[in-house]
Amino acid sequence: MMSNSSPPDYYDDLELSFTKAWDLIEPGASKRASPAHTPVVGSIDASGIAQLRVMVLREASRNLRRLRFHTDSRSAKMDDFAKNERVSILMYDATEKLQLRLFGTARLETIGPEVDAAWTESTPFARRCYLAESAPGLSANGPTSGLPSWIEGKQPTEDQLNGARTNFALLWCEVTELEWLYLKNSGHRRARWKWDDAMQSWSGRWLIP
Ligand SMILES: Cc1cc2nc3c(=O)[nH]c(=O)nc-3n(C[C@H](O)[C@H](O)[C@H](O)COP(=O)(O)O)c2cc1C
Repeated sequence: MMSNSSPPDYYDDLELSFTKAWDLIEPGASKRASPAHTPVVGSIDASGIAQLRVMVLREASRNLRRLRFHTDSRSAKMDDFAKNERVSILMYDATEKLQLRLFGTARLETIGPEVDAAWTESTPFARRCYLAESAPGLSANGPTSGLPSWIEGKQPTEDQLNGARTNFALLWCEVTELEWLYLKNSGHRRARWKWDDAMQSWSGRWLIP
């Protein structure tokens, strides 16, 4: 629903719009009710089709220009990103009437201290997914959780989870472009910012909505 209320302070202000965008993205990692908590992450598959899926945002930093997601190292998206690192991410905040489109490069990480830390910090229930015996997306003989029957409906112990660690991966997205669309009765606003590596700064411009 679009309202007739006065426009927000960022309405005609490119700098403030950029700040507002990251003000929505960053807390999404910890605020479960935030739309930025579950963005849509897009990859390109081997046949050139855009593959979109919802993922939980685990970390977001405007200073580092990066987002972190967790996934199964056997999943199709891992193949997609290994072959084509281009990633796009979509968020829509219906309360703020803001659509955010992020673009950048994906990096997969399966070993190292950051993966270990993310694994340890995840709850046993969250880590249980990675006990699945076959890769996500494979055909099944019937309805299934994919989990071994001994752990169905139970919380795994640290010992039981040891074997699942190799199936756990981090998906890092380095953001190089950010596009924003703000909806308002009196006139929408659209802007796009690009990271300039040489200048080590963002530059933005207004677009026709
Ligand atoms: C609310 C919600 C949150 C999800 N969070 C994740 C996640 O954090 N990581 C993940 O790999 N898949 C997550 N999924 C599942 C993905 O949408 C997707 O089905 C799965 O990763 C397989 O995708 P792929 O076959 O393209 O690799 C989530 C799904 C929903 C509905």
